[in-house]
Amino acid sequence: MKKITVGTEISVFENIDELNTSDKALMNAATEALEKSYSPYSGFKVAASVLLDNGEILSGANQENAAFSLCLCAEMVVLSTVSSKYPNAKIKKMAVTIKSKRQVLDMPISPCGACRQTILEFELRQEENMKILLKGEVGAVYEMESAQSLLPLSFDGSKL
Ligand code: THU
Repeated sequence: MKKITVGTEISVFENIDELNTSDKALMNAATEALEKSYSPYSGFKVAASVLLDNGEILSGANQENAAFSLCLCAEMVVLSTVSSKYPNAKIKKMAVTIKSKRQVLDMPISPCGACRQTILEFELRQEENMKILLKGEVGAVYEMESAQSLLPLSFDGSKL
């Protein structure tokens, strides 16, 4: 028997002002997109913005439903938009942020497992890393160099 460690490297910025201009613009786009969230049930707004290789920024926000299992995560919404609008575009970076009705979150939230798997599929498909930026309502920004970093020990189609 031996043990292995599967890890993730995260760069931590103290706040959004420490980001470069391009990353700050992307995170600001996500913050603006929080207003597109439809989240009357959870009171938890999530928005995701992506920077494409054509320079365009697209955004999406979570869309809830009284039948809870139908809720759409922000990441899924923006990825579907990319696929529909620019099926051949590559995503350079994705920024995710939140706003909770209950508290001011000063730490980033991580995309849920289903979103991580979906983001990873996009990254593998485009054969180029997608940088990930995560932020709470205020405070630190986490940066990861690839979607793979969000999902260590991931399942992918390479063995199918
Ligand atoms: N949510 C997202 O939009 N993305 C995630 O990665 C995690 C959760 C949404 C779904 C639901 O509308 C609300 O956050 C609370 O779970």
